[in-house]
Amino acid sequence: MTTRTAARKKSIAKSAKSAEPAGSVKSAPFQAPARALEWVGEVDGWVEMIDQTRLPASCEILQIRTAEEIAEAIRRLSVRGAPAIGVAAAYGVVLGARSAAGNGLGSFQRALKEAIEKLAASRPTAVNLFWALKRMEEKAKSWIAEGREAREVASLLLEEARAIHREDAALCEAIGRHGAALLRDGETVLTHCNAGALATGGLGTALAVIYRAVQDGKKIRVYADETRPLLQGARLTAWELVRAGIEVTLLCDSAAPVLLRAGRVDAVVVGADRIARNGDAANKIGTYGLAVHARGQGVPFYIAAPSTTFDLSIASGRQIPIEERRPEEVTAGFGLATAPEGVRVYNPAFDVTPAALITAFITEHGVIRPPYRRSIAAALKRR
Ligand code: MRU
Repeated sequence: MTTRTAARKKSIAKSAKSAEPAGSVKSAPFQAPARALEWVGEVDGWVEMIDQTRLPASCEILQIRTAEEIAEAIRRLSVRGAPAIGVAAAYGVVLGARSAAGNGLGSFQRALKEAIEKLAASRPTAVNLFWALKRMEEKAKSWIAEGREAREVASLLLEEARAIHREDAALCEAIGRHGAALLRDGETVLTHCNAGALATGGLGTALAVIYRAVQDGKKIRVYADETRPLLQGARLTAWELVRAGIEVTLLCDSAAPVLLRAGRVDAVVVGADRIARNGDAANKIGTYGLAVHARGQGVPFYIAAPSTTFDLSIASGRQIPIEERRPEEVTAGFGLATAPEGVRVYNPAFDVTPAALITAFITEHGVIRPPYRRSIAAALKRR
């Protein structure tokens, strides 16, 4: 894995002007957000991604040439957010496949299997990862069964990964369109974690709703939870929104209930990592508490997510695997010790919001409302 800070930065983060002072972009007209990642070149090419662990201090671009490095980038959160993880994994399969495309079919198939296994072990919660790997694996198997050669299969896999990336961008657009219709001019939205362009192959999910409403000419204010322990809200959502010229106010997670109680929020809009058949939804730790407080104050609580985030194979949120991450994320998050050495830590990366607390899902198929057992199945028949 290599890091580039200059030349390619312009292309991947077209508008990611890391050196630009925040104040000067705040009042600028709407600016398209940075792309989280992209494939460069043809099948012998590589993946470039913004190293999100470095934002907002610097916008560094990683160049990745192996499936192992993609798995590691997902694990360490250089690329994160459910749909972006899916896109990255699809490119990871291409990197694994092409590494053995010059050898015999047997060794090509082994390399493919190994790459898929490594990528699948990177993070457990976001179902988009497994959805993308399954799609890539099934395609590869069908092309191999047709008698195509390894090199050709590797090239076709690149086309497939690019299609997944393009489709995700289109899903974000549609989510933005459907969600923006729920927001009125002058309203204020509270969001948690980062469900923006950095988290997807396009504009985002929750943030696409806001981007689109603003593009439609509505004045929308945003409150962004900082999102302990890794501060995706502070480091990523605030960064995206400031660059887009959208008015954003950052708050500690623990301030959100007070804000809701004061009547200063018209809607909560967040993303999701996996949604069960009954509508229970896993998202960044802290989402469940936010949903409880939103319900308590009568504020609508929306989850914006594409169909690729729904896992119809599981009946309820109880079956969603919740990732637990290293204690150091809590005790020394960004290198500074904030707890005594050796203290026991509970650090789940996600929680599950029960369907009963979710006002609606904003998907590419439109807005899905309760009763979810019926409405989710009906909407997703079309995916
Ligand atoms: O740990 P992260 O940063 O990958 O968690 C991301 C989230 O929880 C997002 O809200 C979710 O993936 C939706 S992104 C469109």
